[in-house]
Amino acid sequence: MDQFIAKLPKAELHLHLEGSFEPELMFAIARRNKVEIPYRSAEEVRAAYRFANLQDFLDIYYAGASVLLAEEDFFDLTRAYLKRAAADNVRHVEVFFDPQTHTDRGVPFKTVADGIWRALCEGEKEFGITAKLILSFLRHLPEESAFATLKQAEPYLDRFAAVGLDSSEVGHPPAKFARVFAAAREAGLKLVAHAGEEGPPEYVWEALDVLKIDRIDHGNRSLEDPRLVERIVKDGLTLTVCPLSNLKLCVVKDLKQHPIKRMLDLGLRATVNSDDPAFFGGYVGANFEAIAAALPLTREDLRTLAANSFAGSFLSDAEKSAHI
Ligand code: HPA
Ligand code: ZN
Repeated sequence: MDQFIAKLPKAELHLHLEGSFEPELMFAIARRNKVEIPYRSAEEVRAAYRFANLQDFLDIYYAGASVLLAEEDFFDLTRAYLKRAAADNVRHVEVFFDPQTHTDRGVPFKTVADGIWRALCEGEKEFGITAKLILSFLRHLPEESAFATLKQAEPYLDRFAAVGLDSSEVGHPPAKFARVFAAAREAGLKLVAHAGEEGPPEYVWEALDVLKIDRIDHGNRSLEDPRLVERIVKDGLTLTVCPLSNLKLCVVKDLKQHPIKRMLDLGLRATVNSDDPAFFGGYVGANFEAIAAALPLTREDLRTLAANSFAGSFLSDAEKSAHI
């Protein structure tokens, strides 16, 4: 089965570049930038990666990202991800970055955007992976901060396919960002949002009805509301599901209880993604392998999940059919 999975052409639609920051690269960049990190080895860093919930993880994730300072750092981070994704036969990626995590520390937006962009352009030639970039707002910060970020992005809008919404979900419902999402839509961007990872089905409804998103990140808790499932199926929206993330953040107790098979059976367009692979123990190939081992998925199901990732991407119809 693992051979079959390895050979499937895949797209990855839910990946935080800051979440692909492997401890070895973190040490190398910290040394280069003369920044102290409170660990002695990569093994010690990995041993600290035990999370009871999303917030536990986010605290460590933001601390790790704080060693990123120069354009070269963002380039190296992005290139390392693309190289690793290529090894899993990933052909297309739509990746998040969190500008506020960096600009709030005094790193210029341009430094972040230029480093990532150069790596994506070079990566297309070197690894044959096409890429789209999603600017993600941090939902624990006020909407004004998201507006300021959108303003900073204005000179580079042609580099971004979409805006997203991530970070601490509960207590920060999608409607908090209604106006900035409307402005992003006006600017010609697609819209995605994390919803229903820890937050209730009502947050998914809001993301659909108030933000008017084009794709749902996670969406697990949608299954608690049959009317919501019906709506997502009717609208043909894609869910970017992240099995190992769900396990590590205790969204599911055991992968045997993971809802991805149920999602397919309900007619939802589910996809498999790695979210923050350096923190959750596996890239997209490992996520496929883990669900294939835990759930009664057929080869046809796995083929559907991989095909869904291209169908649910923001590639044009012509580009999609070249992949599928
Ligand atoms: N959820 C919310 N915010 C995030 C995540 C996630 O899974 N990963 C990185 N930021
Ligand atoms: Zn995520």
